[in-house]
Amino acid sequence: MEFLFSPNDDLLTEIHYAAKEKAASASGLNEKEFSGTVGSMAVLREPGKMTVWVGVGNASAAHEDALRKATATATRKLSGMGIRKLCIQAGLYSGYARAIVEGACFGAYRFNRFKTRDREDVSLETLCLPELDGQEQEWARQGAAVAETVRRVRDNANMPPNMLTPEGVARMAEDYARRCGATLRIRNEFELQEEGFGGLIAVGSGSENTPRFILLEREVDPEWPTVAIVGKTITFDSGGISIKPAKGMEEEKWDKSGGMAALGILDAVTALRIPVNMIVALCAAENMPGRGASRPGDVINIYGGTSVEVIDTDAEGRLVLADGLSFVRKHFSPDLLIDLATLTGACVVALGQERSGLFTNDDELAETFHRSGENSGDRCWRLPLGDEFTKAMESEVADLRNYDNSRNGGASKAAAFLQHFAGESRWVHIDIAGPAMPETEFPYMERGATGAGVTLVAQALESLFPQK
Ligand code: BES
Ligand code: ZN
Ligand code: ZN
Repeated sequence: MEFLFSPNDDLLTEIHYAAKEKAASASGLNEKEFSGTVGSMAVLREPGKMTVWVGVGNASAAHEDALRKATATATRKLSGMGIRKLCIQAGLYSGYARAIVEGACFGAYRFNRFKTRDREDVSLETLCLPELDGQEQEWARQGAAVAETVRRVRDNANMPPNMLTPEGVARMAEDYARRCGATLRIRNEFELQEEGFGGLIAVGSGSENTPRFILLEREVDPEWPTVAIVGKTITFDSGGISIKPAKGMEEEKWDKSGGMAALGILDAVTALRIPVNMIVALCAAENMPGRGASRPGDVINIYGGTSVEVIDTDAEGRLVLADGLSFVRKHFSPDLLIDLATLTGACVVALGQERSGLFTNDDELAETFHRSGENSGDRCWRLPLGDEFTKAMESEVADLRNYDNSRNGGASKAAAFLQHFAGESRWVHIDIAGPAMPETEFPYMERGATGAGVTLVAQALESLFPQK
């Protein structure tokens, strides 16, 4: 997409914002035609020109994400109408230039890579934001960089499971490593076996598409703190021997969303020049019931030695993440350890599809992530860790079990299982099962992978590690 910062008379579609109180006076429309609430919109056609009024809600309560979602709702609609060039008169809301640009790009996103017929190419080509000052233009550029990052994550997470295997994820990581100046080390199934990645081996053993542990390191300055992100990257989750019901199983292609988001965060940290060194570890496997698949009752050893009784092969995410967390903690002792995973259906039951579950052993981090969620629109809500959940994951025959045969408190029990492997690290676990792959579309977003977790973590890192 091309960006213009000076007025351009050829762009004949203009977005203007108005708060609820000013909706009538600014637009000349009555309340029915344009209310000014978030998401409300009115399109005025004049000869040779189109003016689009977009509501941002109450003037005093208009906030970053209101501007983002309002803009996304409008651009989604406009790009669907075939509009390729757009001018946004941010006016009073120029301070939200970053959110506005993010919204414009998010709303215009479509995944149509695999349409060979009737493929509508609906992406915006030109976005003009006149009358921004220098700082605001910089924010707009940041918005464009973040949006590009998220677009890539959505494209990657939407890849069909026959086309993106764990080995394919490793090839994808090469791209990221090059762009972000990171080193890359890929471990194949033989190395995983050798080095004791028992979780990845167990989960990947029922598939022809063997597992990979993919490690990216971006060290810029040894004085900077190190942030590690571990991503659940299950390219397809059939459930394994504890197989899932057929209906909706195609959605399990999105079970790689945690890993795809982790790569996106690396992109965003690089583009926004956040002063941290990064470790990204992707635990990539395909969970299938093929020959060699692990079974309920198996006991496996996670990286570092902890033994786990597999009760349900569909609780595979925690097994691969356990390897990843243990590995990263042992070799890097990061200052902040984050994992991202489409981990539990229980989290979706608890929080719905617009908030991720946030689990952490640090109250300040909980605050920071919650605030970043509200501002970025990539929302989350803290759920508890605790002894009762830890206890539920104890096994009679091994150190831990991966399921206790009860759905109650499922998101917290999965988190408590991971906590064992995060140890004493400052740790945040984000269960993105709801927002990464919502069941419905939104006025501001088409259905499919959303890139959940990217802007949540990126904004949290920006506020935890400000540029000097
Ligand atoms: N990938 C799923 C979780 C999931 C479910 C994500 C629905 C998004 C939407 C995960 O591997 C899984 O199957 N979890 C089980 C765990 C259970 C067997 C302990 C679940 O949540 O039912
Ligand atoms: Zn599963
Ligand atoms: Zn899964």
